[in-house]
Amino acid sequence: MPERLPERLLPWYAAHRRDLPWRENKDPYRVWLSEIMLQQTRVEAVKGYYARFLQELPTIAALADASEQTLLKLWEGLGYYSRVRNLQKAAQTIMRDYGGRFPQTYDEVRGLAGVGPYTAGAICSICFDLPTPAVDGNVLRVMARYTASYAPVTEEKVKRETARTLAAVYPAGHCGEFTQALMELGATVCLPNGTPLCESCPLSDLCAANRRGCWRELPVKAAKKPRRTEERTVFILRCGEKLAVCKRPERGLLAGLWQLPDVAGTLTAQEALSQAEQWGVHPCGIEKVVKRTHIFTHVEWKLTGCYLLCTQENAFSWFTAQELREKIGLPTAYRQFLEE
Ligand code: ADE
Ligand code: SF4
Repeated sequence: MPERLPERLLPWYAAHRRDLPWRENKDPYRVWLSEIMLQQTRVEAVKGYYARFLQELPTIAALADASEQTLLKLWEGLGYYSRVRNLQKAAQTIMRDYGGRFPQTYDEVRGLAGVGPYTAGAICSICFDLPTPAVDGNVLRVMARYTASYAPVTEEKVKRETARTLAAVYPAGHCGEFTQALMELGATVCLPNGTPLCESCPLSDLCAANRRGCWRELPVKAAKKPRRTEERTVFILRCGEKLAVCKRPERGLLAGLWQLPDVAGTLTAQEALSQAEQWGVHPCGIEKVVKRTHIFTHVEWKLTGCYLLCTQENAFSWFTAQELREKIGLPTAYRQFLEE
């Protein structure tokens, strides 16, 4: 009975909502930024990034004008860098096409770069009190259990159906609270791993999964494709105080970001030295070799890090460790080798 959700969830949310920085007000810029950061990233991990980002770029205008280096530095470690590129693209659209005022309709918001149905639904319900559901993993889990539905939540059709069901029961005047109550219930009560806290749940007597005792089986997810693995050799080339970095290609994984020089495959010490020789950096010895892995959504990198002392700053760009920390946004896959 989805129509009973608002009467249960709104009072519960008022009493149990966490104080989160993006809940301070309904400024669409703040809400938009939080929703983009929170995709694929946990609340606790986002908080620091969120404060720094708003401090440095407090307005849509400032975001539209920010340098790429500033953006990548503010996003360093959050991953999925296309998110911050799209943020800036959307900010530029807002400046150019909307006179700097955040668009106020679902279709306009949905049309901004990087804004899908989930994000548009969240922004429009939270900021503009529109009955537009924001169906993320939390909400899908709550709804699958509440209705004891075994339809696989990984399918777009099920996401659309869930959104339709919810849109029909949105409480006018409280749309933003309803969106956040559903998310909050999924994040703090109807937990994904381990046991949901059904005894503390405002839906416990209505929830079909709780009544039937089948929450353990829900939500159903279609099997994922296994990740492929790739072996790569990463070079930590040191010349005096400086380390070599270069730009990644404009397409593909981590497109356009900085990286430590690397090559496909796992090289022996001899092969690594001769590769460095080919780059013209005159390696004079191996400091150490370490093994690391880094997991992306669709691929896992098995990395061998070769630390080489060099005598020639050739090819590449060279920065001190401090410059790399302070100015260059280096993806975590590479940065881990500088934290040895
Ligand atoms: N996850 C995604 N959006 C969120 C929000 N607005 N508050 C808390 N967690 C969230
Ligand atoms: Fe989730 Fe339990 Fe609440 Fe049902 S009663 S929505 S399974 S926490």
